[in-house]
Formats: sequence, structure tokens, C-alpha cells
Amino acid sequence: MKRDKITAPRLAKMKQRGEKISVLTAYDYPWGRMIDEAGIDVALVGDSLGMVVLGYDTTLQVTMEDMVRHSAAVARGADRALVVTDMPYLSYQITAEDAVRNAGRLVRDGGAQAVKLEGGAEFAQTVARIVSTGIPVVGHLGMTPQSVNRFGGYATQGTDPASAEHMAADALALQEAGVCAIVLEKVPADLAARLTKTLEIPTIGIGAGPDCDGQVLVTHDILGLYDRFTPPFAKQYANLWRATVRAFKTYDKEVKNGEFPRRAQEDSCK
Ligand code: KIV
Repeated sequence: MKRDKITAPRLAKMKQRGEKISVLTAYDYPWGRMIDEAGIDVALVGDSLGMVVLGYDTTLQVTMEDMVRHSAAVARGADRALVVTDMPYLSYQITAEDAVRNAGRLVRDGGAQAVKLEGGAEFAQTVARIVSTGIPVVGHLGMTPQSVNRFGGYATQGTDPASAEHMAADALALQEAGVCAIVLEKVPADLAARLTKTLEIPTIGIGAGPDCDGQVLVTHDILGLYDRFTPPFAKQYANLWRATVRAFKTYDKEVKNGEFPRRAQEDSCK
């Protein structure tokens, strides 16, 4: 193992030392490599894959086969970053046995070094079973996209006192069950700050304010690579969609007007 490798236990140490944790999603080999090169701590193979890479409307269509294949590609690219892979819809909700088997597949065949699953106290036993097999688990509370149909959309969660208390209880139950970190997605900033203070394990926020122990964003959102929408909390650091279309247009024009390939380049292929 690389000397400065980010591991699941190291996330807790980073929290203790007050070091912020950076997380970005990755879906294949080049993204894993670039995440490593940039010094990002965690490569999250999110099931957002279904939307930003595979073009589905929700994450619910993503399969274990999708996650294994993409996770393995990211793991071949990322050396230093901790590779955390999402457990897709129906891979952990039915029985704890299924959950352990599927988490194990993500590790054995997908190169995952931790798995992430959505939900609270109702999955505490499942989390404990997976952790007991030696697999670190990351929790995910707040707006959990696999529950989009129950929520009726992607609204912020924990906005009223009862649901905030419910989320606090869920967070403690997950910590008790052994998760190594919890993603808080679309949670009011004051609630996320309170959970971050209460919990011993790190919180990783996405649309949850600045006080979490770390931040995660979908890579395609920060690079302008998803055309359907960009969440308001995602800062766009580049617009690669525009740059790519510009490059494609130049290529198209040069092929059609004979500017490319040049005669010398053509000869070099012989
Ligand atoms: O699937 C994903 O990309 C995620 C992040 C949004 C946290 O779960």
C-alpha cells in the first residue's frame, strides 16, 4: 500500500486533526487517475453514474454489474485516493445476506475499499453485518436519491424539527453500527453543523453548508459535463462540455474542408 494512501481509518484521524476531506465522484480509469493527480482524498464511484454517464433519469436503474465495472476502472486509476463505491438500488435493501454478498463483490471484483449505502437506523444491522466482514461502510442521509419517489423529488430534508431529530437519531445509529463517515446531502447547514459536532466520525456534505468535515460534489457538475441540470450548490470550476463541442466542431470542419489530416501526418501512418 502507498505510504500516503487514504484509508477508511485515516478519515477519522483527519477529522480529529481538523483536516478537511475532499471527495469527488469518479466513474472510470481517467477520472480515477486525475483525482489522484489532483490530491483529492476520496474517489466516490457514485450511482449518479446512472444519470451523468449512462443517461437515465434517476439512479434507480443502476445495476450491480454497472457498479462493479465502473468501480474496477476507477480503482485501476486511483492509487492514493480511497475508492468508495455506492451500493445500487436493491443491492442491500432486501436482506442483510444480499447486502454482505453485494458489498463483497464490489470489493473483490470492483476494487472498492469501502462501500456507501443510503438510509438510517433501518439499515443499522445491515451496516454492522457488512462491517463485520471487514468492509468499511459510508452512510448517506438527507436527500437520498434512491428514495426520490418516496420524497416526491429532490428537496432538502431535515427542515422541520421532527425530521431534524429523526436524522440526528439516524446518524447516531449509523455511527453505532460502525460506519466510517456519513454523507449529508441537501441538509440545512445548521443541522449539518450540529451533526458534525456531535459525531465522532466525519461528515461529508453536499449542499449541506461549510461546517461538515469534508465536501463531495459530482465531478460532471463542477466541470459542466452534465447538460440536464446543475444543482445550485455545485460550483462550476470549468465548462468542459463547451470546450469539447468547440473541439469537435473544429475537427468536423477540418475533416470536411481537407485541412486534416495533413499530407505529412498521413504519410507518418504508413
Ligand atoms: O451518487 C453519488 O454521486 C452520490 C453523491 C452525490 C454523494 O451519492
